[in-house]
Amino acid sequence: MDILKFGYVVPTVEETMSKIWKKYLLWFAHQHANFRKEEMNSIISMFKITLRLVFESTDHPFWIVELSSPDEAYLIASRSVLLRYCIELWARSTNIEVLHSDLKSYPKDEIELYLSTTFKVVVETFCKHYTQREKVEKIETFNYLPLKGSVNLKNPDTTLFYIEYYGIESNSIPEKPIELFFGRWIADGQRDTIQKLSLKSRKFIGNTSMDPQLSIIMANQARVKKGDMVLDPFVGTGSLLIIASIFGGYTFGTDIDFLMLHARTRPSRISQKIRDKDESIASNMEQYGVKSRFLDVLVSDFSRTLWRTDMQLDAIITDPPYGIREAVERVGTLKSNPFIEDDQIHYPSKVIYKLEHLFIDLLIFSVKHLRLNGRVVFWFPLFRGKYSEDQLPFHPCLTLVASSEQILSNYTSRRLLTYEKIKEPETDDPACTIGEANFRDQYFNMRKESRTVRRLRQSGERARQRMEWEMRKTTNGDKT
Ligand SMILES: C[S@@+](CC[C@H](N)C(=O)[O-])C[C@H]1O[C@@H](n2cnc3c(N)ncnc32)[C@H](O)[C@@H]1O
Repeated sequence: MDILKFGYVVPTVEETMSKIWKKYLLWFAHQHANFRKEEMNSIISMFKITLRLVFESTDHPFWIVELSSPDEAYLIASRSVLLRYCIELWARSTNIEVLHSDLKSYPKDEIELYLSTTFKVVVETFCKHYTQREKVEKIETFNYLPLKGSVNLKNPDTTLFYIEYYGIESNSIPEKPIELFFGRWIADGQRDTIQKLSLKSRKFIGNTSMDPQLSIIMANQARVKKGDMVLDPFVGTGSLLIIASIFGGYTFGTDIDFLMLHARTRPSRISQKIRDKDESIASNMEQYGVKSRFLDVLVSDFSRTLWRTDMQLDAIITDPPYGIREAVERVGTLKSNPFIEDDQIHYPSKVIYKLEHLFIDLLIFSVKHLRLNGRVVFWFPLFRGKYSEDQLPFHPCLTLVASSEQILSNYTSRRLLTYEKIKEPETDDPACTIGEANFRDQYFNMRKESRTVRRLRQSGERARQRMEWEMRKTTNGDKT
């Protein structure tokens, strides 16, 4: 397996020198649109970028923004997984004649700067297909541009983009494009990283391994950067630590499940009968070339913290159990007076770890160990119909900076919550609280209820068939 390389795109000197506000087109993947704004906010606040919004939308796959330097566009693209690409916008219109006239009035010296070496022009269409010949015809309509350099399709110095946007309704495509754009390609976002981190090719995975795209969003929400200390206290197979290490963080984790941490659980791949001997979180880190930034994992119950009180973290990213696919447990006993013989091997017994206690513990732990402005990012399961913001966990030292919903079924969803530490605790602070968080009980009650409804429907159906059959028998009997 190849060792993957990650890193920022290094801007050229001339790009670093320019400090003029310019328009940029940010083109996004049409997926997880309600995470877009949150991811972008986290990235720009991490790099302290001032971004002026010209056009922003979740319905359309693009934003138009103003940035004071192309470096900032490079930085955004070096982290955003929801961004497909970024273009320095030279012209934008709803009308092709206006687009051409705007482009003709764009400062010539700026265009010449990029078009005196090798270049290529890409025609992109959304919700419409053009043949290669049609694309070339479109490119030829731009031949008034001072294209002094030569065409290089494989490795050009400059790539120009002409984009025709026909909307996103593939069932009702308009005759003419809704919007037209022309500009200079700056950088691609991190869509490739999704493929590189694919669970299909990952050495060690489990049933609850986190989807790569969502892990990248989480690490961005947590603003993980080079040298950060990052903990996942419900680490499982360590998916969240991989991307945190790729972004330069020193990562470590804990989990109550010894078998999971040591890759001794049953394999999750249907094709695999037994686990390979070298499956582990460490070998995943090696696979992605970031083993040097992986500290270790420990078997530990989160409800009984083992850390020194002065341990400081820059970020906590985690996906706690919801009790649906994996147990929510903590070490404990229901016996009133447990007694352990000295000479016996002791396996700690476990009791149910109530979700509301787990989330309160998580916020209290975060406040204790995060540095000021550090972030904790985690998933919170909910019943969609019953959602209100006061259900979410609250701590006076943390502010909720993002809450994006991922729908799981007709009734259930989970929210990616991002909290930032805003102050150290004080004695007269209000308590850490949470609304109704008995997701697990509600989930199983709902399933029980729908099973009962199904049973009633099926028995009604059987009674109806029986009656029909009886009636037919009587009618046939009458005839004979
Ligand atoms: C949803 S899974 C995490 C999956 C992980 N993000 C991954 O990508 O593999 C939740 C994990 O929490 C662990 N867990 C449950 N109760 C725990 C506790 N009291 N302390 C620590 N870990 C616990 C489970 O063993 C499980 O591995």
